[in-house]
Amino acid sequence: MRKRVVILASGTGSLTQAILDATELDIQIVAVVSDSADAQVLERAKKADINTSVIQLKSDRAAWDRQLFDQVDQYQPDLVISAGFMKILSAEFVTTFPTINSHPALLPEFPGAHAVRDALAAGVTITGTTVHWVDAGIDTGPIITQMEVPVLPGDDEATLHERIKKVERGLIVATIALITPTLETYSR
Ligand code: GRF
Repeated sequence: MRKRVVILASGTGSLTQAILDATELDIQIVAVVSDSADAQVLERAKKADINTSVIQLKSDRAAWDRQLFDQVDQYQPDLVISAGFMKILSAEFVTTFPTINSHPALLPEFPGAHAVRDALAAGVTITGTTVHWVDAGIDTGPIITQMEVPVLPGDDEATLHERIKKVERGLIVATIALITPTLETYSR
């Protein structure tokens, strides 16, 4: 039985596209959920005939957390994949839905929303990407896989992030293949 997957994404969606294109994976992507109505990732999902939902953050963060939880719960996911989702997920969310995240650095180095910029500023010559289980912290959950990416002379944030994303696209697919057989079926 293919595992039911919900993808959370806020932006361009190149990671999401890599997962959509990985037809060898034993998964059914039941929805792509975004916090931004004009995220390009939504177009990619629609082109692939995949359900989309937008949960826009208004003033009340607790209400947003609840709306996101309820919307994702309706899809009954066996796995949630955060693929460039720029919001922190509630403790209730990550303790209910097994969730993985792709982070563009070698955690625990450079957690947070500016990992690529921070790695450049730190002057490291090797950075990378990490796929980890999401817990209630910020990029603190158990690491599943990592891959190193070199920082090259003359790199700026854009060139380095693009190089990392090339590696991320392969690592996220390999990691999904790795964990899919171990996933419990949704039950609530
Ligand atoms: C990825 O580098 C991911 O690690 C980070 O946001 C980026 C998403 O890129 N959190 P895209 O929107 O999938 O192109």
